[in-house]
Amino acid sequence: MKTPTPASDFAHDFSNSPFHYENETAYQQWKINKLVDYPKSISQLIVPLHDPKKLTAAEIQQLKTLLLKTNMAIYDIRGEAREDKSIPEEIGLQLGIQALDKNECADDDGFTSIQVVDNGLHAIYIPYSEKGINWHTDGYYNRLSEQIYSMILHCVRSAREGGENQLWDHETIYMMLRDENPDYIKAMMAADAMTIPKNVLNGQLIRPDRSGPVFMITEAGRLHMRYTARARNVIWKADELTQKAQQTLREILNSDSVFKFQGSLKAGQGLICNNVLHTRSAFKDDKQNPRLLYRGRYFDKIIL
Ligand SMILES: [Fe+2]
Repeated sequence: MKTPTPASDFAHDFSNSPFHYENETAYQQWKINKLVDYPKSISQLIVPLHDPKKLTAAEIQQLKTLLLKTNMAIYDIRGEAREDKSIPEEIGLQLGIQALDKNECADDDGFTSIQVVDNGLHAIYIPYSEKGINWHTDGYYNRLSEQIYSMILHCVRSAREGGENQLWDHETIYMMLRDENPDYIKAMMAADAMTIPKNVLNGQLIRPDRSGPVFMITEAGRLHMRYTARARNVIWKADELTQKAQQTLREILNSDSVFKFQGSLKAGQGLICNNVLHTRSAFKDDKQNPRLLYRGRYFDKIIL
């Protein structure tokens, strides 16, 4: 069942937050803590799970510790490559998330099967092709009251070739952008920083224009990000500061950085995250054994 976040979630006072662009003292302290023992490779994000339907307290702790530090973790269920959506679903439940966004491409149970589809509604969208997908957070086009705060991407079968993901903790992106110029953060937190143009399909309005900020602070004090690097999917505010900020953000994302993680999910592995920035490279399918991932997008925040 949908439990969207009320619009008032963003109406609170966050002047004490380290993510407030004027709160330099709290930000510098936050940054020091953030960088202590920050993982340097994707292998440090992996948490082996014994039984995905019966996580141990230690496994939950490991996942939550990583989620707190990097906003993401990769679980690894060795030898588990079954077509069974209850696996990611139950992992989510054990981490306290259950309110799935049943978007138009989702299956009846709320999870979406990410696979190559040659016809029908799915075929017009890039995720259901072999093409690559540029940097984005999931559901950036959703209403502000229906943001995707957490996401699971569970791999049943990987591609024959390609289909790698790059992953980037949005808090380190925020940090790099703020360190360039704190005013860029101010611009990216404006309610009209970016507008996602309407989606019209066969003359029918699927979604109206939606404006909103790139960075938001949630009631729990966590940082949330809405973003797409796909130029045709976003209209940036025309003022100079916003333009410079979005250009700098793009340059950071295209740069080499110790904060950028890269790898392919293997069968039985899954990404669980606070909707971090991610990409997917183009891939080639094995037609007999096609790539299949299950994706769950949640309105819930993982309580850490
Ligand atoms: Fe995505």
